[in-house]
Formats: sequence, structure tokens, C-alpha cells
Amino acid sequence: MDFAEVIRTTPTCRRYRPDPVPDDVLRRVLDGTRWAPTGGNRQGVRFVAVRDADLRRRLRDLYVPLWEQYAGRATERPGAPLPRLLAEADHMARHLDRIPVLVVVCAQLADLLATDRHLGRLSIVGGASVYPAVQNLLLSARAEGLGTALTTLLCAVEPQVKELLAIPEGVATAALVPLGWPENPFPARLARKPLRDLCFADAWGAPLFP
Ligand SMILES: Cc1cc2nc3c(=O)[nH]c(=O)nc-3n(C[C@H](O)[C@H](O)[C@H](O)COP(=O)(O)O)c2cc1C
Repeated sequence: MDFAEVIRTTPTCRRYRPDPVPDDVLRRVLDGTRWAPTGGNRQGVRFVAVRDADLRRRLRDLYVPLWEQYAGRATERPGAPLPRLLAEADHMARHLDRIPVLVVVCAQLADLLATDRHLGRLSIVGGASVYPAVQNLLLSARAEGLGTALTTLLCAVEPQVKELLAIPEGVATAALVPLGWPENPFPARLARKPLRDLCFADAWGAPLFP
């Protein structure tokens, strides 16, 4: 697939066919993650591909109450997600166990360096050695015709997830990425802000591309 087409048409897929993902395809998708950059090239990202039906049910059972809590709050906030997006996300949450692969993305904490940790605000840099690999996962999957959805709700119950999947101490959960064949065709384009709103020339606010 053409690179521009891959990056422009990788949506959040919330409806999947139950068909299994062949091992060789899963291997190619996960192989794509290895080439992402990490601070100091420490390469501390790990992936637990959950295919066991009982484990997937248990992950769904952990996910659904977190989703319900989030969705309940989200509808009350200004700029709330559209009802259609919430309905689709609700469908995915309740059918999570039927998605053939649930990838739990993990990070070895000793391999991460949050250079903004002293600034007294939420650390952004903490995830910088993890999420490039996750994006590679999404894009590699798209190139194979597979759908994915980057989610982070499950990280709130990390102790339970770690116990379920025998994830050792010193390793954190960073995301849950469902992976499977999409029920619907990929969209031709995604809803994204125009470049002129995102890029500045030399200082914040001066448009780079008016
Ligand atoms: C950090 C993060 C967390 C997300 N969590 C969820 C989630 O819990 N459930 C869900 O359905 N989508 C989740 N998403 C997907 C976003 O809703 C999605 O990227 C956004 O609505 C744009 O959708 P599109 O890529 O299909 O255009 C998450 C995305 C990110 C980056």
C-alpha cells in the first residue's frame, strides 16, 4: 500500500469480524513495531497478544465498567463525543471478547526516561518511548487490511490486568489494541483538523501555512 494512503486511512475500528488473524500476518504486524524509535534505543516495549477466549472475556469484563464510567461522564462535558462515536465505542466495549486478538502493550519502566517529570504537570514524555511503537502497530495492521483501535481505559486497572497475564513487576500497561478484520470498508479519509491550524512559523500562533 502507498504510504500516504496508509497514514490517511487508519481509523479507529470498532466493528470486527470474528475470523482469526493468521500467525504469519500477526507476526508481520508485530514485526513492524520493532522499528519505532525509543529513548536511548532501550527498546522497552512489549506486546502480549491475547487470543485465548477466556482471557479475552476477562479483559472485556474489566473494560466494560471502565467504559460505562467514562461514557457516562463524557456525555456531560462540553465538546462531548458525538452520539454515533459513543454508540460505536459502546459496541466495541461490549463485544471486545469477540475480537480475535487483544494486544496489551507493555512498557519496561526502567527503560523509560520522563525528562519532563520535574515540571509539576502531567508527564507527556513518559510515553514517548512507547507510543511510536503503538502507532507502527496500527499502521502495519492497516497495511495488512486489519483494523485496530488504540485504547487506554484498561490501564486504570493495571494490577488486575498484570495478574491475569502474568506481567512482571517493573512493567506497566500502556494500551489495549484490539486487532482483527474490519466488518466495514476502511474510510477514504478521516476527520482531522487542517494543517493551517496545527503548524506555526517560528513562534506559536503565526500560521506556517496560511
Ligand atoms: C489515548 C487514546 C485513547 C483512546 N481510547 C479509546 C477508547 O477507550 N475507546 C474507543 O473506542 N476509542 C478510543 N480511542 C480512539 C479515539 O476515539 C479516536 O482516535 C478518535 O475518535 C478519532 O477516530 P478516527 O481515528 O476513527 O478518526 C482512543 C484514542 C487515543 C489516542
